[in-house]
Amino acid sequence: MIPTPDLSHLSTSDYRNIYEPSEDTFLLLDALEADEKQLKELNPSVCLEIGSGSGCVTTFLGCLLKPNQPYMITTDINPLAAVATVMTGKKNGVSIDTVQTSLVTNLLPRLHNSVDVLCFNPPYAVTPSEEIGGQGIEASWAGGVDGREVIDTMLPFVKELLSEKGIFYLLLISENKPAEVIELLQGDGFNAHICLQRLAGREKQFIVKVQR
Ligand SMILES: C[S@@+](CC[C@H](N)C(=O)[O-])C[C@H]1O[C@@H](n2cnc3c(N)ncnc32)[C@H](O)[C@@H]1O
Repeated sequence: MIPTPDLSHLSTSDYRNIYEPSEDTFLLLDALEADEKQLKELNPSVCLEIGSGSGCVTTFLGCLLKPNQPYMITTDINPLAAVATVMTGKKNGVSIDTVQTSLVTNLLPRLHNSVDVLCFNPPYAVTPSEEIGGQGIEASWAGGVDGREVIDTMLPFVKELLSEKGIFYLLLISENKPAEVIELLQGDGFNAHICLQRLAGREKQFIVKVQR
């Protein structure tokens, strides 16, 4: 069992500004851990996480893949999340490059079809569309109509980013209409299915696993 990364350098006051790892984060960790063998056999060269928040997910993935650490890069629209991600990596012996940007702006074409593991725990809550676009804590949850607005902006990038052998893990909740998201990804030629799901209070969370 791979332990949850040491996050003791982050305090309650940090979590006023960056997303504190929660049930959704842990569902993503569980999906990665369940695929440990496959991920190790994949021998990834490049792992990308969009919206890394505290850095918990990418750090966990880096620990899972040790001693073969691939190039790990993350993005977050929130500048404080970018700082926290680097710190969390350092604290746990995982080297992470972080870019403060929206989704993958400025990473393409450099990462074109070269990402072997892609993770995204998006802002998925149903909110007014106007709440989207900030760079603070509200960016952690504000997902607009059906909680899908940021997700739908990101989906077309999957075919640009994933390598031939690449795997994409996406967290969704029921309100995001996972079946519809799966259909969109299948329309882009991917195999996509729900690999893990869990009830967190009243929220039903899913991990969609996507491959070519
Ligand atoms: C639900 S939180 C997940 C954080 C972390 N990955 C985790 O699982 O604990 C969503 C993250 O996405 C970031 N985010 C929101 N919109 C974004 C965008 N357009 N581009 C990059 N990151 C974004 C937020 O700042 C936040 O850190």
